[in-house]
Amino acid sequence: MKTSPHRPTKALINLGAIRYNIQQMGAHIPQETIKWAVVKANAYGHGAVAVATAIQNDVDGFCVSNVDEALELRQAGITKKILILGVSEVESVSLAQEFDITLTVAGLEWVEGLLASHSNLSGLTVHLKIDSGMGRIGFRDAQEAQEAQVLLQEHGAYVEGVFTHFATADEQYEAYFDQQLKCFKAILADFKDLPELIHASNSATTLWHAETIFNAVRMGDAMYGLNPSGRVLELPYDLKPALSLESAIVHVKTLPAGACVGYGATYETGSEQVIATLPIGYADGWTRDMQNFSVLVDGQLCPIVGRVSMDQITIRLPHIYPLGTKVTLIGSNGDKEITTTEVATYRRTINYEVVCLLSDRIPREYY
Ligand SMILES: Cc1ncc(COP(=O)(O)O)c(C=O)c1O
Repeated sequence: MKTSPHRPTKALINLGAIRYNIQQMGAHIPQETIKWAVVKANAYGHGAVAVATAIQNDVDGFCVSNVDEALELRQAGITKKILILGVSEVESVSLAQEFDITLTVAGLEWVEGLLASHSNLSGLTVHLKIDSGMGRIGFRDAQEAQEAQVLLQEHGAYVEGVFTHFATADEQYEAYFDQQLKCFKAILADFKDLPELIHASNSATTLWHAETIFNAVRMGDAMYGLNPSGRVLELPYDLKPALSLESAIVHVKTLPAGACVGYGATYETGSEQVIATLPIGYADGWTRDMQNFSVLVDGQLCPIVGRVSMDQITIRLPHIYPLGTKVTLIGSNGDKEITTTEVATYRRTINYEVVCLLSDRIPREYY
């Protein structure tokens, strides 16, 4: 979607906050830990190129979800290591070789398919993914993983890492986490020739299970200042949210009692009311279920009334404010704040989804 800078809706990204969060996490884990910044999905909506460029001296590498996201970073001049966390098409292996992009290898069948078409894997770096209980991608046993390792090495690839991913590191009950950890450790113990990098820690594991860090971490949500457990677990130390979302009043009017607002005429003014319109809607990722949530105007919570449209929402104001008055949808305004997690809770989702869904139509401004 086309970015629309000629309207007052914008996401403000505090790059200093991201750097602060990296420092905070780094200060609470063993000093020699390798730090990978997870910048997939456009850096969780924060803008992958701008974020990666700003933090490239603070981290050892980047994680993305696919080849195209990796190429975007390379084309922007990012020279640090890049690991693709998902499964890549065999056809893109030559791109990985050419642009020094590390691939995840998750199964033996994939390796056999690769070798059927690519006999020379020199210059290719890979990490083996172990499925210790997430059930998505990865080897379920050490023998198959090692078979893949040997085949890849015989054809010239460098098997640099082995990793897993936890399903419940952000939850209160630790039994399943412990089971996964045990499984991963048992698989590692079976390896004859362990790769150099061993990693299992996403944000939640880094924050609440720092004792289980092997020698690298993959920091996503927490790096952006968000609590990966939402409201379940308290952050063990301070993190600063990096993203705020702002718009402005583009139209305002006083409606008489009994007037309807928005598609479906779902809202009716119970008395004479001031209704203002903001240029943001579900096409921006401000989804329809945000009806009846609030925004901040002049330090006050004002309700979103009527349905969320594709490009506009309507809010009720205590009195007329001039056109151009700033409205905060996520972030602070006066002494009040609306957090991404509050938006997520209202929407019955997780803060990850709220930021990832902010569409390309919203310009990102960096400070
Ligand atoms: C394999 C893997 N590692 C790390 C991460 C980063 O997770 P988080 O954002 O919770 O730090 C993700 C995110 O989905 C992932 O899929």
